[in-house]
Amino acid sequence: MNIIITKDNQELSEKACGIIEKQVNDKPDSVLGLATGGSPLGTYKQLINGCQERSVNYENVSTLNLDEYIGLDKNDPQSYHFFMKKHLFDHINIRPENTYIPNGKAVNLGDECERYEQLIDDIGPPDLQLLGIGQNGHIGFNEPGTSFQSETHIIELEESTRRANARFFDSLDKVPKQAITMGIQSILKSEKIVIIASGERKADAIRSLLEDEPDENMPASALRAHKHVTLIVDEAAYQKAGH
Ligand code: GLP
Repeated sequence: MNIIITKDNQELSEKACGIIEKQVNDKPDSVLGLATGGSPLGTYKQLINGCQERSVNYENVSTLNLDEYIGLDKNDPQSYHFFMKKHLFDHINIRPENTYIPNGKAVNLGDECERYEQLIDDIGPPDLQLLGIGQNGHIGFNEPGTSFQSETHIIELEESTRRANARFFDSLDKVPKQAITMGIQSILKSEKIVIIASGERKADAIRSLLEDEPDENMPASALRAHKHVTLIVDEAAYQKAGH
């Protein structure tokens, strides 16, 4: 695993942006795997600047998002569809029809999981997958205990994850209890993976990712088996790693 330690979230976002822009400039029809949550917000701001000020071109880029809450409409401000439009897609020259996110309102969620996994194989797998990490080590919405062989599936969200994400909702009871997520195996199909972590509350997860044996109770530890992973971490999130 390549490890890049940055001073703060700003520098982390610039580094992640630089890697994504290089990918897009080197291969204009790249497939990018994208994440939501607080972690990628700074990176998306930088990507928007890059498109608007440095003419980085997303015309032929496709994107596959990791996950979506079950039961939220695409136009719900808390849905990941809405998040991606608001924080990235509406501000860069990507074609909306080239952006893919699981449908959390599908009538048949089992079919939706199969459709999305097929999409990953047909359109992707991503040349580059951007990941955040949950405080409990989740990637996408793969909670501790998820099989490393998992493909796109439905997951029951842990109470700790719902509490961590409640800051984006009016109240905890509005946070959905289930999500549809790419599985660990689906994520590992990507050519390259960039995982970003910022702030003290991620320090335990990062220490475990770097030091403990791979274990399904720590979903991010599956990344240790991947050939091309870059961890970009700020000093606050890196502080507990033995070094
Ligand atoms: C969320 C998302 C993940 C994200 C993680 C961390 O629930 N489903 O993709 O990486 O949890 O969130 P944050 O970046 O807000 O700390």
